[in-house]
Amino acid sequence: MMPILFFPFLLLSAIFAQQRQSHVKPGSFLTPTTNSSWPSPSGLYAFGFYKQGNDYAVGIFLAGLPQKTVVWTANRDIPPVPSDSKLNFTSDGRLVLQSAQGAETSLASFPEDASSLSMLDTGNFVLLNSANQMVWQSFDFPTDTFLPTQKLFHGQVLYSSISETNKSTGLFRVLMQEDGWLAMYPVGTPYTLEYGYWGGGISGQRNDVVLHLEVNGHLYLINGAGTIIVNMTDGYPAKDVVYRLTIDPDGILRLYSHDMNRNQNWTVKWFAPNDDACKPKGLCGLNAYCLLVDLQVGCKCLPQFEPVNKDDRSSGCQRNFTMESCKSDRYAMKAVLNTVWENNSYSVITSTTQENCGEACLRECNCEAALFKDGVCTKQKLPLRFGRRDQKDSTVTLIKVGTSTKR
Ligand SMILES: *[C@@H]1O[C@H](CO)[C@@H](O)[C@H](O)[C@H]1NC(C)=O
Ligand SMILES: *[C@@H]1O[C@H](CO)[C@@H](O)[C@H](O)[C@H]1NC(C)=O
Ligand SMILES: *[C@@H]1O[C@H](CO)[C@@H](O)[C@H](O)[C@H]1NC(C)=O
Ligand SMILES: *[C@@H]1O[C@H](CO)[C@@H](O)[C@H](O)[C@H]1NC(C)=O
Ligand SMILES: *[C@@H]1O[C@H](CO)[C@@H](O)[C@H](O)[C@H]1NC(C)=O
Ligand SMILES: *[C@@H]1O[C@H](CO)[C@@H](O)[C@H](O)[C@H]1NC(C)=O
Ligand SMILES: *[C@@H]1O[C@H](CO)[C@@H](O)[C@H](O)[C@H]1NC(C)=O
Repeated sequence: MMPILFFPFLLLSAIFAQQRQSHVKPGSFLTPTTNSSWPSPSGLYAFGFYKQGNDYAVGIFLAGLPQKTVVWTANRDIPPVPSDSKLNFTSDGRLVLQSAQGAETSLASFPEDASSLSMLDTGNFVLLNSANQMVWQSFDFPTDTFLPTQKLFHGQVLYSSISETNKSTGLFRVLMQEDGWLAMYPVGTPYTLEYGYWGGGISGQRNDVVLHLEVNGHLYLINGAGTIIVNMTDGYPAKDVVYRLTIDPDGILRLYSHDMNRNQNWTVKWFAPNDDACKPKGLCGLNAYCLLVDLQVGCKCLPQFEPVNKDDRSSGCQRNFTMESCKSDRYAMKAVLNTVWENNSYSVITSTTQENCGEACLRECNCEAALFKDGVCTKQKLPLRFGRRDQKDSTVTLIKVGTSTKR
């Protein structure tokens, strides 16, 4: 059953559809430098080329703002294209990117030919068939941003970007789960509790929970019976204000607002996780742990490790010496306090002491580190992942270091 809540929007969108759509017909095209985008009727959003480095990417951006804010990117993981490329809405109803040499990349695949396309004022870019039915919409393929009136159904994911300027897939994702929770994970891990770093929801729900964002910034989870199960925000003034929800490169999910009457930056209205900016797992890369320095995220290498790339904290750390042989007299164990990691243990010793834990690792060639907590020693191989300082956690990280390294 359709919840009451949906009707105002349906009505509105019907009005939009009748009066405000500006349809683009087959045979139209865009180039990066002239006629580079198709605007929405009000000019708030536009679909087309935007600059990425020296080249151009195709996407949807807020055109009505001083700094173009990109909210969607086509084929985000293929390299941007040079200025002699074309975006061609072909006369047979395909939407393709064409290089000067004639190579084609499809921007959207849909079951039938499109007979018009339209950039809507909601930020949704749609392709329609000859009966004016939608055959494709960008809202079904979100990248890092979720807009008012968009919906996130179970199984749908937003992926963070690499950086503000590089919209390729980054390190983090937020998933609308089958169990009705909205949850965040690093990329490349299973969707299990161990790897999650934030969740919003209540238990006992089914796979019909949907994430909604209203035009006034009201962000909530609603189930199939039409009951709001979690309000993440209560909504804000909506007049001349635009909202967006973005999973940022640092793994934090933020609801932003922008007042169209003020020439200012986006303002953060809500964010998650909100207790520790080090929560997003993997911010610091391998063999490094995240810690807050004056509330800012900082990264620290394990002892006798150094950054792989000083300009990219997510590249992690590597040993600054080579393990030459296995003789234990060349090594010692160094302790790092209050740090948590992924538990990737190959051997566990229970009812032991920190000292014995270190000794056990030192004696064993394959042991490169050990985690000790509450009398339990878990031996680990490198690399260690997802490290974070947690003053409330008593885990001691014991790391094998050289005692006779060359100076
Ligand atoms: C832009 O496109 C419109 C219609 O598609 C066309 O009339 C106009 O000449 C184009 N402008 C440039 C600079 O190519
Ligand atoms: C668009 O693509 C069609 C089919 O590949 C081609 O015939 C046409 O010339 C292209 N349009 C432009 C402006 O390049
Ligand atoms: C974006 O980052 C990816 C991965 O680091 C890189 O391969 C790509 O070249 C970058 N793109 C741009 C435009 O800098
Ligand atoms: C969520 O907010 C709406 C109105 O903003 C309110 O009617 C509803 O009771 C709230 N639900 C929960 C679960 O807090
Ligand atoms: C907007 O943010 C950028 C970068 O964070 C900053 O350089 C700029 O001064 C800000 N502009 C305003 C109007 O606050
Ligand atoms: C390795 O780094 C440590 C600091 O963590 C330093 O004391 C040691 O001298 C370095 N060793 C080499 C070989 O660079
Ligand atoms: C770590 O993993 C080992 C082996 O799977 C397990 O026995 C141990 O209980 C785990 N430790 C923690 C703290 O989860």
